[in-house]
Amino acid sequence: MADPASDAETIPDLLAAAEEHYRQGALEDAAGAYEAVLARDPDHLDALEWRGEIAVQRDDYETAADMLGRARRLRGDAAFAEYTNLGLALYELGRARDAVDALVRAVARDGGDLVSHSNLGKALYEYHQKVDAEDAGRIAADWLARFPDNPDARHIGAAVSGRAKPPVADSAYVADVFDDYAPNFEEKIAELSYQAPDLLAALLAEREPAPDGSLAVLDAGCGTGLAGARLKPYAARLDGVDLSPKMLTKAAEKGIYDSLEQAELISFLSEPQRMEGDGRYDLIAAADVLCYFGALDGAFVAFSHALKPGGRLLFTVERLAEDDAAGGYRLDASGRYKHGLGYLEETLDAAGLDVLRLRRDVLRYEYGEPVAGVAVLAVKRA
Ligand SMILES: C[S@@+](CC[C@H](N)C(=O)[O-])C[C@H]1O[C@@H](n2cnc3c(N)ncnc32)[C@H](O)[C@@H]1O
Repeated sequence: MADPASDAETIPDLLAAAEEHYRQGALEDAAGAYEAVLARDPDHLDALEWRGEIAVQRDDYETAADMLGRARRLRGDAAFAEYTNLGLALYELGRARDAVDALVRAVARDGGDLVSHSNLGKALYEYHQKVDAEDAGRIAADWLARFPDNPDARHIGAAVSGRAKPPVADSAYVADVFDDYAPNFEEKIAELSYQAPDLLAALLAEREPAPDGSLAVLDAGCGTGLAGARLKPYAARLDGVDLSPKMLTKAAEKGIYDSLEQAELISFLSEPQRMEGDGRYDLIAAADVLCYFGALDGAFVAFSHALKPGGRLLFTVERLAEDDAAGGYRLDASGRYKHGLGYLEETLDAAGLDVLRLRRDVLRYEYGEPVAGVAVLAVKRA
């Protein structure tokens, strides 16, 4: 690593060394060389920006915000290009308003940068929840109006502004969100006291206390396999389907699935070979998945077709308070949908599914608040 105290090397030498270290993936050495440049010239813009970039890559958001904030002040807003990295660093430091400001500038500079849009969605939700819901709604509405074709703007822009009610979360948006989560999904969701898989397992165990490994089971929206692990003792065959390739990679590591497929679950269930006869599954589970659907009729009909007569459907949804349930479902600022119990029962019934058990409970916590939900076990009419 370069020694910041040594004057032997010139700035061009140090920059060349830093670039070479970076090219070879030696980030610590590259960071040291850029720091040596900054020890000689604290306002060196390339060194500030590259040191900031490396800090983001190493999840060192304090350093990133410091370096990139200095570069922004020196360059001036019009010439500063590192808004995506600065926005991410500020978001990770919990500075939601500043993060939104930086990321709005990032998408304005480069409307096609999907990472900036995705990070703007996260920052806007946090700004909405923690700081100023009205201002967040105004910024979200503007974002949606300017980028109607971007999946994040279309979904989170609609969710935070309340300006539109898409009937389902866009598949590209869902895949992107969960690809991003996948490396740390299980740790992050445990921190939120996530319990959808346990609630579903408990509901099923009340009806079937002694699993005998005889059922054909589909884990719809299987994610990393948290629900699948609970369903495995029931399964002669366990299939998983999910939109997110990176969640599926994690699920595969568990070694519990007979098949895993990357697909949208209604399309998956609508493939001709899966529509033959009376359905192929004894049990379909969707733990914390239907909150990415507003209208549930399509999913329930697809589940019903895929179930054998007498087969069971097990799922959770986030619950709308009774006095807020007109219209059946609502898109929350989080980007997830909440459903009314009346809507659930009607839509299940219309798809030929009868409720066997329904339990209200907390699905997880978010910003310290309980997320009210319902776990349902339904049966396909014979
Ligand atoms: C919150 S995770 C839950 C994962 C798993 N069921 C569990 O309980 O840990 C939601 C999962 O549903 C998937 N998903 C959401 N909508 C989907 C759809 N329409 N088709 C397939 N997968 C979907 C997401 O990609 C994500 O992996």
